[in-house]
Amino acid sequence: MCVEGNVPACERINMPINHDVTLGTGVRIFQPDLVNLYGCSIGDESKVGAFVEMQKGVRVGARCKVSSHTFICEGVDIEDEVFVGHGVVFINDRTPRATAEDGSLQTEADWKVVATKVHRRASIGSGAVILCGVTIGEGAMIGAGAVVTHDVPAGATVAGVPARLMRR
Ligand SMILES: CC(C)(COP(=O)(O)OP(=O)(O)OC[C@H]1O[C@@H](n2cnc3c(N)ncnc32)[C@H](O)[C@@H]1OP(=O)(O)O)[C@@H](O)C(=O)NCCC(=O)NCCS
Repeated sequence: MCVEGNVPACERINMPINHDVTLGTGVRIFQPDLVNLYGCSIGDESKVGAFVEMQKGVRVGARCKVSSHTFICEGVDIEDEVFVGHGVVFINDRTPRATAEDGSLQTEADWKVVATKVHRRASIGSGAVILCGVTIGEGAMIGAGAVVTHDVPAGATVAGVPARLMRR
């Protein structure tokens, strides 16, 4: 049996879109039972696919598209008109650990969120991994499968592992 916090999963309140999520006008979430959104805000007319998780503090702007299977963690700020492909993974901790030095499970007090910014009209290809602390410039294009480790200038196209400039 799948148990979380000593409560069987089947007895937990099934609330994939938490009450603390702020949704703008005309936001479309195609499978509201198959997402995990909490403490985030999504701007007007944006679209969100299935199996997307957005953590607390995430902001997605207006008229964005967030494709299925994408994970947007705390610390990520996405401006308007951004395209996020399928299975994109953001990161907010460069050196994660499950436990503290004493072997106890880490809490929020044991690590710091490292922020990431995506400027308007940028596009992030499917399967890309965006390391923490980077800024993706306005209108930039991130290739499918890229691992973005540095800032991406406005209008630039990057691809590869690690992501390198293809063109400006
Ligand atoms: C990065 C991208 C924008 C480049 O497109 P493009 O300018 O048309 O580039 P080309 O197809 O002409 O490829 C140019 C070179 O880059 C390589 N390349 C293209 N995309 C690449 C990628 N994502 N990663 C690594 N290399 C890539 C090509 O193999 C080619 O190399 P070659 O000259 O040695 O053959 C595009 O390939 C891409 O990844 N787009 C994202 C698509 C996506 O994820 N959509 C999601 C919704 S379905």
